Amino acid sequence: MLIDVLPLPGHPARNPDGPAVLIDVLRATTTMTCALAAGCRFILPASDVEQAVALGRPYSRGEALLCGERGGERIEGFDLGNSPLEYTEETVKDKVVILTTTNGTRALASLRGYDPVFVGSFLNSESMARGLAGYDRATLVCSGNSGRLSAEDLACAGSIIRHLESLASRPELTDSARLASALFKSVRTRLRSFIVTSDHGRELAALGFTSDLDFSLRLDSLPLVPRFADGRVTL
Ligand code: MLT
Repeated sequence: MLIDVLPLPGHPARNPDGPAVLIDVLRATTTMTCALAAGCRFILPASDVEQAVALGRPYSRGEALLCGERGGERIEGFDLGNSPLEYTEETVKDKVVILTTTNGTRALASLRGYDPVFVGSFLNSESMARGLAGYDRATLVCSGNSGRLSAEDLACAGSIIRHLESLASRPELTDSARLASALFKSVRTRLRSFIVTSDHGRELAALGFTSDLDFSLRLDSLPLVPRFADGRVTL
């Protein structure tokens, strides 16, 4: 199995097709995994606010929720922001979640040519590896933050690789996959301080979202395999 990691979406890929996992630990893919765990019907990722509003039109008011952030904060007039802690059974069960975020939902839309496309985070890195293990190749795509690499996404790719190394037959790692793997191994025992001091971690802490950081690093706490197909993220 050839495992490649794209440090940013659009980075030249060794595997231009086959399975891919989108990773945006802070916070889009963590939030999507939470929303599905809390029983939402499905998630409609939108690249921008206008698209999110348009996707909501066919639904009645109580049926779908408009969700997302810009600059980390809830978009004015939207029902929920992008904090995974907002996505509880009480708020999202049986609802359609329409989500637009600065990086994650746009990155998801950019993954054309890959099939299947999964949604990964620290919460489900082991399940991700199990979902990928039967394939002969896999591409782990880090969302980054406004075109800059995010260390927490690279470390999460490394945590998926750690599981793949014990599940897949003869895993072969590209250089970026080797870097991700080495990074995760070196920060695994101090993951919290690593995330809290990351660029995006500091931005979120300054906005008062420190509990999101703690939540996002709960390794393998939600054994789910969210998949993006036909414009929807479902389990
Ligand atoms: C994004 O997609 O850019 C992030 O999820 C931003 C955030 O932390 O809310």
